[in-house]
Amino acid sequence: MIGDQKILFSGMQATGTLTLGNYLGALKNWLELSDEYECFYSVVDLHSITVRQDPAELRKRARNLLTLYIAAGLDPKKNCIYYQSHVSGHAELAWILNCFTYMGELNRMTQFKDKAAKHADNINSGLYTYPVLMAADILLYQADVVPVGKDQMQHLELTRDIAQRFNAIYGDVFTVPEAYLGKVGAKIMSLQEPTKKMSKSDENANASIYLMDDPDTIIRKFKRAVTDSEACVRYSENQPGIRNLIDIYCACTGKTPEETEKEFDGKGYGDFKMAVGESVVSVLKPVQERFADLSKDKAYIDGIIKENAEKANYYATKTLRKVQKKVGFPERIR
Ligand code: TRP
Repeated sequence: MIGDQKILFSGMQATGTLTLGNYLGALKNWLELSDEYECFYSVVDLHSITVRQDPAELRKRARNLLTLYIAAGLDPKKNCIYYQSHVSGHAELAWILNCFTYMGELNRMTQFKDKAAKHADNINSGLYTYPVLMAADILLYQADVVPVGKDQMQHLELTRDIAQRFNAIYGDVFTVPEAYLGKVGAKIMSLQEPTKKMSKSDENANASIYLMDDPDTIIRKFKRAVTDSEACVRYSENQPGIRNLIDIYCACTGKTPEETEKEFDGKGYGDFKMAVGESVVSVLKPVQERFADLSKDKAYIDGIIKENAEKANYYATKTLRKVQKKVGFPERIR
């Protein structure tokens, strides 16, 4: 707890280009959480170097992501938006937690297996202990809740196990975090293969809407979206393409699937796709404009970076000192 609010932690990597799926599925919902929770949103750059990065590119992407958090509407005075690498406590706690995590546990992590297969020439120890760093992120802030996608559930489970193990030895040191199970964001599927999740690493650029796509590109991609030959705008399991477009339309307009079916009753897919494209443009355009404005204001963003790193450091150090004392490190002389 900070004051009378529960603590929420989440992070995103600044790799790849964020998609409409990331926005509607995660970022947009974060806005609603900021009244209810004391939120920490990190750009997790320590995690990013588990695969080889171009330094200049990583720095640029990290700043863009941090700026995008703000452009999407997260108030950086209320939400602690910061770079993971600016708070050394993440790495320090990760080391300690490494000594409380079994190789057997890490061997079971499916994401490690996937990534190791994908980067066979660089299976480094950081990639292996990635979930421990993630546990450190969360436990460092005594987070109560963590909004995560399905792909990160296994890591969150491990985080809980590590926290409980540590607490069992040393007393109540860590808050054991829960997955955030509130209103989950829309799950947006690929426009080309609507049974697959929209992904920032999809090789077919027509499959994903990127947050920075201009209106013409957005409309064009929707026109090319894969549908079916039913010729009927219906929210049905048998029409995954149309169903996905309805989900996107509803997420952008606040309408329900039933309302959408009625609205497009008797109309063709051409009209519907156009309307979906326009609804997306109307949601993304203001974010893009704010992003452009914010990007020009270097002093403002720098100020936010500095202020929030200090705030994050304050809370991180509090936990870290407690942990260091528990495991037997000597007290600091002041
Ligand atoms: N591993 C997460 C991902 O790739 C990012 C992440 C790092 C994270 N630390 C976190 C998410 C802590 C939630 C909480 O999506």
